[in-house]
Amino acid sequence: GDNGASEGKEPIKVVTEAGFMPFSYLDKGELVGFDIELIDAVLKEAGIEYTIENVGWESMLAAVQNKDADLAIAGITVDDDRKQTYDFSSSYFESTHKVVFREGEAITSGEDIKELKVGVQAGTTGSKAAEKIMGENHPNISKYDSNTLAFMSLQSGDVDAVVTDNIVADEYVNNNPDANVEMITDPETFDSEFYGIMFPKGSELVEQVNTALQTLMENGTYEELYKKWFDA
Ligand code: ARG
Repeated sequence: GDNGASEGKEPIKVVTEAGFMPFSYLDKGELVGFDIELIDAVLKEAGIEYTIENVGWESMLAAVQNKDADLAIAGITVDDDRKQTYDFSSSYFESTHKVVFREGEAITSGEDIKELKVGVQAGTTGSKAAEKIMGENHPNISKYDSNTLAFMSLQSGDVDAVVTDNIVADEYVNNNPDANVEMITDPETFDSEFYGIMFPKGSELVEQVNTALQTLMENGTYEELYKKWFDA
């Protein structure tokens, strides 16, 4: 038969970068996280079949830009620079930045990272936030391919602090009680920002995804996911 509108269509390609717990990460080799469950619920609601692949951050951005992928979800902040290159869904999560640092450093404000060696994930808003304080391409800023690598460098002592998204910082600090790290946020220095689902420019999926997202926000599904992942 040929009555389903989506029948015969190829599944769309979703990409993510699974180094961003609790939004997108690997648990025993399995992709999990708030974003992973959210995009599953959204696409199910929209009646869209998909495949999902974990790729590097830069590859993920390139894949969407080149239309090798149909959308990306990975705690991606909607910002004006990216809007030049990509389309975004309506926002689904509010975020800001935190500084995670080795216990004992005298860090009480965002500005205090000026005195430190700072690790960030390259090409993220955390990187921009650190550069806004220390200066663009400042030699004391180390840019890593993943947020995971930035945290590993904090552990090994290669950097003194990491600037990253607040919820990801919370998760790391809570999950690593023996890491001897602490964290601060600083609303004076770090702006609030919003995550969105990222599409190639001109994608026809944006509207369908927004409609589905809206439904999930109204019917309690979003709230359920939120509670599951963020209200311990
Ligand atoms: N929200 C920040 C940004 O968009 C960091 C996102 C990092 N995400 C990840 N999957 N590593 O720049």
